[in-house]
Amino acid sequence: MLRSTILAAARSGRCRSLVEQLPPTRAIVDRFVAGDRLEDALAVGRDLVASGRSLTLDHLGEDTRDAAQAAATAEAYEKLLAALRETGLAEHAEVSVKLSAVGQFLPRDGERTALENARRICAAAADAGTTVTLDMEDHTTTDSTLSIARELRADFPWVGVVLQSYLRRTEADCRDFAGPGSRVRLCKGAYQEPASVAFQRREEVDRSYVRCLKVLMAGEGRPMVASHDPRLIAVAGQLAQWNGRSKDSFEFQMLHGIRPEEQLRLVAEGHTMRVYLPYGQEWYGYFMRRIAERPANLAFFLRALSSRN
Ligand code: FDA
Repeated sequence: MLRSTILAAARSGRCRSLVEQLPPTRAIVDRFVAGDRLEDALAVGRDLVASGRSLTLDHLGEDTRDAAQAAATAEAYEKLLAALRETGLAEHAEVSVKLSAVGQFLPRDGERTALENARRICAAAADAGTTVTLDMEDHTTTDSTLSIARELRADFPWVGVVLQSYLRRTEADCRDFAGPGSRVRLCKGAYQEPASVAFQRREEVDRSYVRCLKVLMAGEGRPMVASHDPRLIAVAGQLAQWNGRSKDSFEFQMLHGIRPEEQLRLVAEGHTMRVYLPYGQEWYGYFMRRIAERPANLAFFLRALSSRN
């Protein structure tokens, strides 16, 4: 109930301006977001790489209905990728892209615009010698996102996709995407979804995660285990062993600011540990999803508010 309310607020313009103006918000946002500027992302990214972690950088933004804004986001990614190349960070850093930020929801030709903008980003990633992973948004976008991923993979076979274990369809999608060279980031899913398409109970989502992971670990691609859940991290390690996988044939991924000690423990064990590092001014939707994931975050937020009032 609380989660649904926060996720509904994540899509509300009125809540957005309210939360953005609250004085203590910034300090809490900073836990999850590198900063507003590209330079902030590069500075935080450099420190993470120095500690042995890899990166996937996200230029924040989503749900744009404006073609010029969609093109501007593609351009921001081109600048980011040029900077990764010039600073040498590209060896350890790729990028994550939300197709709704590059045009998927435009009323006219949304899917085509998103594909063209994503192509620009992939071409810049190829120049930088790195890769792109397409984030997954709510279930109404899944077919469109997977179809764009397939088109991109014809020219850029390293394009990765995110699949969400809370969706009932995902085990089948894992089978489709477990072929040679594929890169699948498996997460639980962060949006509000109806029972007709998504498991609602935590245990069901977790069981689905294990089933999907079994498919990916037995497959020929590179599974990217995106979870902070200690039980699922342990299961991933077991499944990798049972499938005779070496440590460099799969990776763990976590969000910036969440369980940093666990991130370092996995690095110390010799695993690839990739941190999802967002930056930019459009942090509201991303931030609200992080709050919704954990009631303790909301309590912390409310305590910070009341101590300032
Ligand atoms: P779970 O929510 O059960 O958390 C396990 C533990 O992790 C908690 O007990 C807590 O200790 C810690 N934790 C988790 N979330 C926290 C938070 N917000 N604050 C503090 N502690 C927290 N989703 C999506 O729908 N589309 C996408 O494209 C992506 N992309 C993505 C990339 C990467 C690299 C990651 C790690 C995650 C995503 N997600 C996502 C988000 C994902 O779907 C999910 O909402 C979160 O990862 C939380 O789920 P966990 O698997 O961590 O388990």
